[in-house]
Amino acid sequence: MSAQQPQRIPQDFIDTLLDRTDIVDVVDSRVKLKRSGRNYTACCPFHKEKTPSFSVAPDKQFYYCFGCGAGGNAIGFLMELEHLSFPEAVEELARKAGMDVPKQEQNLSPAAIAAQQAKAQARNQAYDLLEQANLYYQKQLRQHPQRKQAVSYLQERGLSGQIAQRFGIGFAPSGWQNLLDELGTSDTTQSALINSGMAIKKPDSQRVYDFFRERIIFPIRNSKGKVIAFGGRVLGDAKPKYLNSPESAIFHKEKELYGLYEARQQQRDLKRLLVVEGYMDVVALAQHNIHYAVATLGTATSHHHLERIYKMVSEVIFCFDGDAAGIKAAVRAMHTSVPFMSDGRQARFLLLPQGEDPDTMVRKEGAEALTNLIANATPFSEFLFQQFSQDLDIHNLEHRAKLATDMMPVIQSMPKGLMRSMMISKLEDYTGLNQDTLAQLTAVNDPPAITAKADTALSDHHEQATINTDFVDTPTGDAPYAPPIPPDYVQADNYWQAKESWPTQPTTHHQQGYQKNHHIQQRQKASVQNPAQGAIRLILRHPTLAQNYAQIPDHLRQLRMADAGVLVRLLEICQQIQTQLQRAPKAAELQSECTTLEAWPMMRELAAMESLTVASDHTSQLQEAIDKLHHHYFDQRFDDLSQILRNSSGEEQINTAKKQLKSLLSEKETLQKMQKSR
Ligand code: CTP
Ligand code: MN
Repeated sequence: MSAQQPQRIPQDFIDTLLDRTDIVDVVDSRVKLKRSGRNYTACCPFHKEKTPSFSVAPDKQFYYCFGCGAGGNAIGFLMELEHLSFPEAVEELARKAGMDVPKQEQNLSPAAIAAQQAKAQARNQAYDLLEQANLYYQKQLRQHPQRKQAVSYLQERGLSGQIAQRFGIGFAPSGWQNLLDELGTSDTTQSALINSGMAIKKPDSQRVYDFFRERIIFPIRNSKGKVIAFGGRVLGDAKPKYLNSPESAIFHKEKELYGLYEARQQQRDLKRLLVVEGYMDVVALAQHNIHYAVATLGTATSHHHLERIYKMVSEVIFCFDGDAAGIKAAVRAMHTSVPFMSDGRQARFLLLPQGEDPDTMVRKEGAEALTNLIANATPFSEFLFQQFSQDLDIHNLEHRAKLATDMMPVIQSMPKGLMRSMMISKLEDYTGLNQDTLAQLTAVNDPPAITAKADTALSDHHEQATINTDFVDTPTGDAPYAPPIPPDYVQADNYWQAKESWPTQPTTHHQQGYQKNHHIQQRQKASVQNPAQGAIRLILRHPTLAQNYAQIPDHLRQLRMADAGVLVRLLEICQQIQTQLQRAPKAAELQSECTTLEAWPMMRELAAMESLTVASDHTSQLQEAIDKLHHHYFDQRFDDLSQILRNSSGEEQINTAKKQLKSLLSEKETLQKMQKSR
């Protein structure tokens, strides 16, 4: 030992840090690696060479150069390459892993050092045992006399041997002491097995027996492929359906994601990850070549999960069942995602039809259909608005105030950036409250609500909000007040953006089922579904209104929304008749001209719909609808640009997209000002 006592970082911390660090990531972010069999290679950064002799072994978490003999672990690599001291290298890796280096201990007593070493030893022994158990379970799937039962179960669930092997799926046969007999019954082995959850001791009889019996075994691997726990599924309908290893020093449920290691084995630079609920979902998706699914282990998606996920990819799709539990899980995930939503990141939400999970869905509908659903999953901003505006009538003053008070604190918890600005601006649109008022709402309010509440009971929220009265239409007399744009349109917004409300292409049987079952779609009555339909209805009933739009606004043509296309077509037809007759068409003339359109059944229904509005200023009603569509068009461009930001790696491309985002935002603000002054 040198004269000066070296400062010590606890060994236990270093072990944990190395467990959470993948040397492949550390090296690859500094020296581009190429895959070569099980290892990765590159030209050695420590000596000059033309052909690669530098290699990184992910299973051993080591690098080695066959040319110059340099070698070591992730810490050593950083020390060598960046000329860092040991504590500096540890500090750097800890920062990346989101860990705090504990206060460095000086003059550690021999007893403390011994305790640390014992801990490290126990950890290594646990890894070892888990790996042996893993091999044992896999062997049983190939060799055990009862294997047929397990193999045919997996086959019935559509899995190939190859996929089973990739995920290391195994079989725990029936019997109380199979694994114990295999791995040894000495006291130390037994207690190690008990500690890592593979055996249990009955408190009364002191008998020790296997934890997993007569189950399909899914090994849970950490990011480096080491087995850290197991999940076991019954072969039939017995309860509990799944057993999971208990928490241990090396297994923390709320941090691990099943399938992450396997996904990265398939593709190291993943673009997106699909978060699902079950083991079988992950495996079934992989069977259908969807390799980027991971499952939380019977827990909600945690911020630990999201921290890890967003370090790897910029897009996450939460894909849950469409039942009440799935919706709840999605809303929870939405709230957990809020602080992660910086520019260039995206979270999307896909709720499957009632009774389906990703496993059944991909087997029934195929990978392509599911991939389509994934591509069209509801973006974060939209999902957030959906959840918060549920059961609110956006044209009711108090409801709008409630929406603002509930939502503003949540938006304010997003990282600063353009996405956040866009959402504030969208909230401004929805509520008619200006930015200053909205900002005040966060100042006077309690912390954000944990869930988007479904109850419409209004507290005294609205008293805190000052309403921009210019925006508010006041009902006259006792007539039922209804807004210029029918009340359903807020919910309907989601409808057309996620799935087109007026399919231009024949929908498959499956899509129809999806739309029918989707919880948001379920809420829809026979009514105007979006501003485009509102405009269509007005024009069909009062064709002279179309004269103001002889020049069809560009945003209507650009919108990827089927009903906007119908609106454009309708305006064109008005134009044609106007040219022929030298006057505006009458309602009957226009409507008979439209009967050949594919959208006619919808148009007819719209035309027949009675107006509830008291006011008869159709001109401004139409203008308002067309303005709303302009904001939809901004949202569409925003989504497109975010997509570019997510998918491009070139700095130039990213900068261009960022500039476009900025100008989009100012365009939007200009439009808002203009609309207010109208
Ligand atoms: N789960 C659990 N314990 C249970 C039931 C479920 O830990 N008793 C966890 C498992 O991680 C499981 C996930 O929750 O994968 C989803 O459960 P569930 O939807 O009930 O099962 P599926 O994944 O659909 O299972 P399977 O398709 O095999 O029936
Ligand atoms: Mn299932």
